[in-house]
Amino acid sequence: MIRKILNKVDCGKELAPDEIKSLLEISDADDLQALYDCAYRVKERHVGKVAYFRGIIECSNICIKDCYYCGIRKSNRNVERFQMDEDEIIREAIWAFENEYGSAVIQSGERKDAAYIDMIERVVRTIKEKTDGKLGITLSLGEQTEETYRRWREAGAHRYLLRIETTNPELYKKLHPADHSLEERKRCLTLLKKTGWQVGTGVMMGLPGQTMQDLTDDILFMKEIDIDMVGMGPYIPHRDTPMGQEIPPYTDAQKQAALTLGLKMIALIRIVLKDINIAAATALQALEHTGREMGLQCGANVIMPNVTETEYRPNYTLYDNKPCTDENSSMCRGCLTARITGIGETIGFNEWGDSRHYFKRT
Ligand code: 5AD
Ligand code: FES
Repeated sequence: MIRKILNKVDCGKELAPDEIKSLLEISDADDLQALYDCAYRVKERHVGKVAYFRGIIECSNICIKDCYYCGIRKSNRNVERFQMDEDEIIREAIWAFENEYGSAVIQSGERKDAAYIDMIERVVRTIKEKTDGKLGITLSLGEQTEETYRRWREAGAHRYLLRIETTNPELYKKLHPADHSLEERKRCLTLLKKTGWQVGTGVMMGLPGQTMQDLTDDILFMKEIDIDMVGMGPYIPHRDTPMGQEIPPYTDAQKQAALTLGLKMIALIRIVLKDINIAAATALQALEHTGREMGLQCGANVIMPNVTETEYRPNYTLYDNKPCTDENSSMCRGCLTARITGIGETIGFNEWGDSRHYFKRT
């Protein structure tokens, strides 16, 4: 049955929702490997064996939101809050550029104050000027107004990541306080498209109460809204959050299960969405030392090395045991370069590596 479905993929046929779900339910080791290999063939055919680096700058952990799973939620008093100044953000972006990363990602907690919005606009403009327009800029700064999305796009950033987290309305409610809205998040994704971004979304996998049907629906949602990029990762409890306190830290068996689910989702999204960009999330590496390489081998083609100054890293702990918090940017560059070449892939240095899908849909 599994082989029959994978055969369909190899013949270029579309999968029905039930078939997607059957593949997500695989647990047999040989079947899993067959799924990963199949996804890798789709990746080779549609985007090649090149991994693109996006240097991620985590520029502030101040957040107006209070998601029950997230370590930097506003109610967590055990976090020392920080905001980099403009020069620091620019310096880190230039470091990424000089180290041949095609793009940088600027990420922070959600902020909507005018001073912050203006600051980001200036930073984007300056980075573009200083790199002669050559460094690609991705933003991951949460829900904003149409006007803000437009201003940041005009300043020169061109990709935006906004995870939907889950498309199941009941589950969404359980993950977020009442003032958060799934509909608003969907609306923001529509606004991002309207204002001309390459748009990425994603979910967390392995959330308490989440089913394979939910994850199947998540994949179908991404297909339906015709997304360009996916960044998603396994849910990992954080001890200072309401959800993390309900769940004891993962045992080794739970870590393995979360990793496998993460890899299956990458494989399935590659198989269903084919020519989009998919990031191998850092959270995979929190579960298994080689988690990010495994992500590439299951269909991902983007890696986001951390380029944040080391002193800030421990304060941007979204989940427990986040990797790379003691390392510096050069160490992560060397480490990931070795990991990627070690699995026989090349790194798309100095290239934007835009989503091929974006150019087909526009
Ligand atoms: N485990 C895994 N991922 C998390 N994120 C936040 N908290 C956690 C957690 N405990 C993810 C969310 C968010 C992204 C920046 O980090 O999906 O969109
Ligand atoms: Fe940061 Fe390996 S990627 S230390």
